[in-house]
Amino acid sequence: MAIVYNEKKQTFSLHTARTTYQLKIGNLNYVNHLYYGATIRDEDLSYLIRRYDRGFSGNPYDSLQERTFSLDAQPQEFTTQQQGDFRINSIEVQNSDGSFSFDGRYLSHRIYNGPFTLDGLPTPFATEQDTVQTLELTIGDAITKIRVTLLYSVFEESDIIVRAARVHNSSSHRVDLKRIMSVNMDFMNGSNMDLISLPGRYGQERQVERQPLTHHVHKIRSGRGISSHQQNPFVALVDSTANEEFGSCYGFALMYSGSFLAEAELDQYDQARLVMGINDRLFSFPVEPGETFDTPAVLMTYTHKGLARMSHNFHHFFRRNLNRSKFVRDVRRPVLINTWEAAFFDFDDEKLVNIAKAAKDMGVEMIVMDDGWFGKRDDDNSGLGDWYVNEKKIKCGLTELVRQINGLGMKFGIWFEPEMVSEDSDLFRAHPDWAMEIPGRHAVRSRNQLVLDMTRREVHEYLIEHINRILDSANIYYVKWDLNRAITDLWSNALPADRQGEVSHRYVLGLYRVLDGIVKTHPDIMFEGCAGGGGRFDPAMLTYFVQYWSSDNTKPLDNLKLHYGSSFLYPVCTMGAHVSEASPMVPFETKAAIAMCGTFGYELDATKLKKKEIRACKKMSDLYHKYYDLNFFGDYYRLANPFEQVNLVAWECVSKDKSEALVTVITVNLTVNGPQEYIKCKGLEPDKYYRVEGGTGSLTASGMALMHAGLPIPREIPEYTAFIYHLVEI
Ligand code: DGJ
Repeated sequence: MAIVYNEKKQTFSLHTARTTYQLKIGNLNYVNHLYYGATIRDEDLSYLIRRYDRGFSGNPYDSLQERTFSLDAQPQEFTTQQQGDFRINSIEVQNSDGSFSFDGRYLSHRIYNGPFTLDGLPTPFATEQDTVQTLELTIGDAITKIRVTLLYSVFEESDIIVRAARVHNSSSHRVDLKRIMSVNMDFMNGSNMDLISLPGRYGQERQVERQPLTHHVHKIRSGRGISSHQQNPFVALVDSTANEEFGSCYGFALMYSGSFLAEAELDQYDQARLVMGINDRLFSFPVEPGETFDTPAVLMTYTHKGLARMSHNFHHFFRRNLNRSKFVRDVRRPVLINTWEAAFFDFDDEKLVNIAKAAKDMGVEMIVMDDGWFGKRDDDNSGLGDWYVNEKKIKCGLTELVRQINGLGMKFGIWFEPEMVSEDSDLFRAHPDWAMEIPGRHAVRSRNQLVLDMTRREVHEYLIEHINRILDSANIYYVKWDLNRAITDLWSNALPADRQGEVSHRYVLGLYRVLDGIVKTHPDIMFEGCAGGGGRFDPAMLTYFVQYWSSDNTKPLDNLKLHYGSSFLYPVCTMGAHVSEASPMVPFETKAAIAMCGTFGYELDATKLKKKEIRACKKMSDLYHKYYDLNFFGDYYRLANPFEQVNLVAWECVSKDKSEALVTVITVNLTVNGPQEYIKCKGLEPDKYYRVEGGTGSLTASGMALMHAGLPIPREIPEYTAFIYHLVEI
């Protein structure tokens, strides 16, 4: 049983295959967090909490003269407010009397089979292979009548626990939520922990940062209305000595696509606390009597086997439990060519057909018509919102264009940027109030476009109707859903003045609603997400999109870092990666080998390639298919860190049964007359023997030898050479 409730001890033990999480209804009915780590039995771990008088940390009134019980030092499942806990907190609710206090004590619980779902927010689902149980534990304030239900779904086999919180207003007055976190995680001993996050910027998303957890509040956040290029909604707390293979690692990933917040601190007693949820900046959400408010879900995993295992837990879960599309596993994703870097806005139907014809010989199976096919759109200053075909460019009409492309034996994909509007567009002229703008001010322009008010039903209906009409008008196989600016001017015409604090979150809820109305109603279309590259690449988006465009930066060497960072959380099969004209000094084969560490495709003008280049592309497209299963479904290992001063960058994908592996090595800094370099493989079966093809020949060695002694890399070869080694069990 995944969840065991011990009535006598008042403990709840949440077991996955390799971990245990324990909480307990403790002193004065506060709910204590006791443990999260490697599997233990259902024994009561409350002996870990040592009580002693803590100066300047007060005591709840009903602990009477007892001075050893202070919420400022207790490990808790969720915090109180104004009850003497001065650490970072998980809830701030303004009550009808103006006070901010919340004194949540245990009220009730229930345990049931299957995962929880949330109101308007995406959550993971259980497959037939999963055993999932859920604990709903409700704490409440006896005075204010505000209740919080803590939700825990335990995905046993995957070592994943999904958490969220649901606030219920059972009073007879409106209250205003100022802050509500999805998760609060206390660690009784937080010294010697590092915090890992994935910061970045446009064109350089998901780099890796690791820093010691110290006695101040570490804040990882986006306030941009999207999960953002600048931070990803992921953090890990790991042993300071943890590496790829060893050490305790706690990973947290928030399923949310808007402004988010993760805070972590080491407290005065070297206990650690981490919270994660919706960013509380510019957030104030009223909850009326009888209403509930759901937070987004957080995916948590633990392993003592290092960073690689933490990533595998997420990868496995992302491939299995986030997206029901047939393109996740059952239908192979085609090699695509995207027109953006080939033509930008300058194309017509003839040009597209010519690119498709040339690309066919490269092994390309689908052409994607990017930005510029709709309304009046010859540059990025106009047209957004006008989702009808520009017949000056697509002269034969969309249905006929797709018919011609299909006639070449190729599939067709199309681009949209639904959430935006250009001031120079029919949509804006008809509905200027649909753009977000603060009264009396001009809205901030970004890429010369404004943001549609996604809190409004009529906007949802417009988008669902117009986009679905295009999708149903032709044989469309793929959609790229883009967004090219951050969200500003949080103000909605549809909400009264005292409810404008809802806008940021309601935008995200509106987005999910529109996605439901378009993506979920087109199960035969493959959807890829994009936000000026990877500006909204997050686990919630992956419930709609099977893959996400990693970055507008297609420079292969930059992509080494980007893929490395992304791989902490995201599996190869979710990362859009293309071969482009960028970095001409990097050989084509190397670009392709790097793009194969994602969902492979091209971003260039196929009509301009030489015959030799077309043949090289065909070879690489064939390789993508040859190694598709290994790359998409194998266990991914980071073998060399591109953020360090290394001569080689390398990664590996190993099949689940360990009978096959693919090791990719890129030379980045080879010196003249340099030393012999070796790459140590990972994840192989020690006692199996493997035939290794690649590099400059072939060899046979045991898994043991390949992992502990390594694989010699050819010497005296130019920088930016790629070696792809294929290991097959003999
Ligand atoms: C940003 C995307 O990341 C690009 O790939 C391209 O689709 C442009 N937008 C089009 O405007």
